[in-house]
Amino acid sequence: MTQDEMKQKVAEAALQHVKGGTIVGVGTGSTANMFIDALASKKDDIIGAVASSEVTAERLAGHGIVVLDLNEALTKVDSLSVYIDGADEFDADKNLTKGGGGALTREKIVAAASDFFVCIVDESKCVAHLGAFPLPIEVIPMARELVMGVAGKIGGNPILREGYTTDNGNIIIDVHGLTIADPRGLEDELNSIPGVVTNGIFSHQGADVILMGTPDGVETIGL
Ligand code: A5P
Repeated sequence: MTQDEMKQKVAEAALQHVKGGTIVGVGTGSTANMFIDALASKKDDIIGAVASSEVTAERLAGHGIVVLDLNEALTKVDSLSVYIDGADEFDADKNLTKGGGGALTREKIVAAASDFFVCIVDESKCVAHLGAFPLPIEVIPMARELVMGVAGKIGGNPILREGYTTDNGNIIIDVHGLTIADPRGLEDELNSIPGVVTNGIFSHQGADVILMGTPDGVETIGL
């Protein structure tokens, strides 16, 4: 089975977590795109979806799925029923690294507004410790050198994502070479630097369940 076929299987498996009459949070990336395509078959059952990026909003709308702004959604319901998204890495405690596609801040916001986070990945995303994938940090532009300096002091090699601006108008610094022994501690430490919007460690907003595609089928981790 190819990597894309594994992604397709988990995207389809995630549909079981979509309940009729609810609002669904939808992530960003190639696996999330496959989920959006699958979600089109349930578009008449749900109230609508909240997107974690402009790209995702466009794809949802392209399928005729109702796209709600998060603030608007939370006037209709107390919380989104489920958030479904991919990840760049995950560990055994369901901590994630996200933001390879640059949408980490909106992804974290929508995850926080959701009752349940279903993470959909192929088996290549499974790691013993987060850090092999460069850790993205969304930063307000004037804080670039400040944040790069701190990232260097904690042992990383920070590299500005050239020519990239987030949906929120900010920059991304990718921190290479970290071995993340304490995901929650590092998530908090980096988020405490003035000018950091958020970083790509999802420990506070870690997954509730991970659907992992393998050559033998979909493995469920965490239920
Ligand atoms: C987007 O900002 C990311 O967090 C993605 O969720 C992550 O990069 C996974 O993307 P793929 O499904 O394309 O691997």
